[in-house]
Amino acid sequence: MYYSKVAATIFTIAISVIPVCHAQAPTGTPYTDPETNTTFSTWGIPGPLGLTFGLALPESAREVDATDFTGYLKCSTASGWCGISLGGAMTDSLLLVAYADPNSKPETENTVAISPRYTTTYTLPAAYTGNLTITPLSTHVDKSTNSFETVFSCTSCLHWSQNGTEGGAKTSSGMLDLAWAISPEKPVLDATGDLQLVRHEREGTWVAQV
Ligand code: HEM
Repeated sequence: MYYSKVAATIFTIAISVIPVCHAQAPTGTPYTDPETNTTFSTWGIPGPLGLTFGLALPESAREVDATDFTGYLKCSTASGWCGISLGGAMTDSLLLVAYADPNSKPETENTVAISPRYTTTYTLPAAYTGNLTITPLSTHVDKSTNSFETVFSCTSCLHWSQNGTEGGAKTSSGMLDLAWAISPEKPVLDATGDLQLVRHEREGTWVAQV
């Protein structure tokens, strides 16, 4: 009886201390993209419907808040979509939604598109209307491993403004709140060329040390 009480107490302490979620460690893992020779700090979510996000920030990012970065995104969903929130939540943050272009022709079948989005509610995020520039530096779609990847530069992406609401990521703090979401469902470009998505199947948040 006594021992079962001790065991129960130890168990209670253990589950309150051990994190329940499988969040990544804040420290990123270095990865050098062979094509662009860019070295990123990366954080990964394992498994089917997993992803890896990498950040390469300017040298001065720990002293002065950076606005630009080079990003790496590899998503285990060749025909679905995956997204990163640069503010650590779905709402009130700049979202980058990546997908292998559903309209790509055989000659452009390696195309990965990145659509900047924004929402204040937990509904389909609208197109982001603030100023930023996303330039793809390399993209690959690999049907055999059911994944796509892209390296891109993102200028003016670490501060955002939509309908008068401002936000941003403070790289000088050394820590960024980030979040991810992924879906196996194909995104559809509607008649106006806008992106229609169904809700993600997996999502999560993490703190990244930069
Ligand atoms: C039709 C589109 C979408 C719908 C209906 C939707 C809906 C939702 C809902 C209801 C939640 C709350 C889940 C919970 O607390 O149990 C959520 C969380 C989340 N969503 Fe979405 N979502 C959509 C698209 C997106 C996109 C494009 C992203 C891009 C990154 C995203 C990122 C996230 C993240 C990171 C979370 C967890 C963090 C948080 O609660 O803010 N979502 N979503």
